[in-house]
Amino acid sequence: MFDVEEIRKDFPILKRKIHGHDLVFLDSGATSQKPESVIKAMDDFYRNTNANIHRGVYELSVESTRLVDEARGKVAEFIGARNEEIIFTRNASESLNLVMYSWGKDNVKVGDAVLVSKLEHHSNLVPWQELCRETGAELRIIDVDAEGKLKISGAEEQSFEESGLNVKLGSFDKLVDEKVKLFAVTGASNVLGTLPDVTGMIKTIKSKSPEVTVLVDASQMVPHMKVDVKTLGADFVAFSGHKMMGPTGTGVLWGKKEILSKMRPFLFGGDMIGEVKITGSTWADLPSRFEAGTPDIAGIIGLGEAVDYLEKLGMDDVRQHEKELIKYALEKMSVLEKEGLVVIYGPRDVEDRGGALAFNVVGVHPHDAAQILDNFGIAVRSGQHCAAPLVTGFGVPAMVRATFYVYNTKAEIDYLIEKIREVPKVFA
Ligand SMILES: Cc1ncc(COP(=O)(O)O)c(C=O)c1O
Repeated sequence: MFDVEEIRKDFPILKRKIHGHDLVFLDSGATSQKPESVIKAMDDFYRNTNANIHRGVYELSVESTRLVDEARGKVAEFIGARNEEIIFTRNASESLNLVMYSWGKDNVKVGDAVLVSKLEHHSNLVPWQELCRETGAELRIIDVDAEGKLKISGAEEQSFEESGLNVKLGSFDKLVDEKVKLFAVTGASNVLGTLPDVTGMIKTIKSKSPEVTVLVDASQMVPHMKVDVKTLGADFVAFSGHKMMGPTGTGVLWGKKEILSKMRPFLFGGDMIGEVKITGSTWADLPSRFEAGTPDIAGIIGLGEAVDYLEKLGMDDVRQHEKELIKYALEKMSVLEKEGLVVIYGPRDVEDRGGALAFNVVGVHPHDAAQILDNFGIAVRSGQHCAAPLVTGFGVPAMVRATFYVYNTKAEIDYLIEKIREVPKVFA
């Protein structure tokens, strides 16, 4: 049974006081808190096992190697993948850049198009801007409607050209054709919580753009709902380990074996080679080919523990809990909205959204609002949330964002609402 009060006991940081108040942590979208089991696994590693992997025949090195292999197996099973298709990176940004450098540069050329959406985090936008600028390919962007949902059909197409980058903004139906070589789309918006119909869009684009490769940025999906790469229909999936209770410094790229094995490495050096001669080198098999140098061994082991923790909770229950929280938060916030106190951004139907709630307090700069909430022990983020085109598209310079996870409660939402009411009073 999903018991939030029991779950909270697993997270030592939740006992902290902030400015004399209980911590109300509403920024898991940036990085989640870590349960005791993850912290302990890392601590155990440094105390009892610490040695580099793959490089020793001695006991400790063999143990380290085994622990990393086991963690890879857990991550693979968690998303329905094969072990050798899991590449450990430092974060989702590195996973996305790996695809850009190792796949993009060899497969996207002038005359092609890369399709993204306006919901993208900068990490799934800027690499493609750079690739398109370098290659002369066109960048196509699916626009969003007033609720922050992707425009699937009917939108007027707009074109822009700046510093050698050609951009088209419009609806999905108009931007999909045989020129699209890459569709890189988020599975869940980190700002508005929007959950695009990724599976449906992938089906459509695979029928209309036969040469397309699909990359899903699942950074806000994998920590919050069941993701199975086999049913998703993508070719690459990128996500962060640190947003799913794993340690910072961990990220994952999943890619189909047949695609990964044709890609050249992104980083060169130790551990990723087959044979090295002074005249040249060959590359290791998957996944080592894409994991040059010493990885974050303790972090990867911690990530394996995080997967165990999420498996124990059950991803369907995790999603259900977050749906209940966001439903409750939207109901309570709507009251403030009717009173003219706040503006809420993003879809209102909980089926169409994840647990990110973006809003502004009327007449108060989001940074001021976040600062005042912090005085009450509430950690929310303010700014553009690494999605400047999306946020400014709503006609505001920035937004406040609360993001929920397994350890958040309805009582915390009540407290948030109560303290949002205090915000304008500071300026009265
Ligand atoms: C949707 C999305 N993509 C990518 C990233 C980048 O993740 P990382 O910080 O692990 O590189 C984030 C982080 O907030 C995100 O929310």
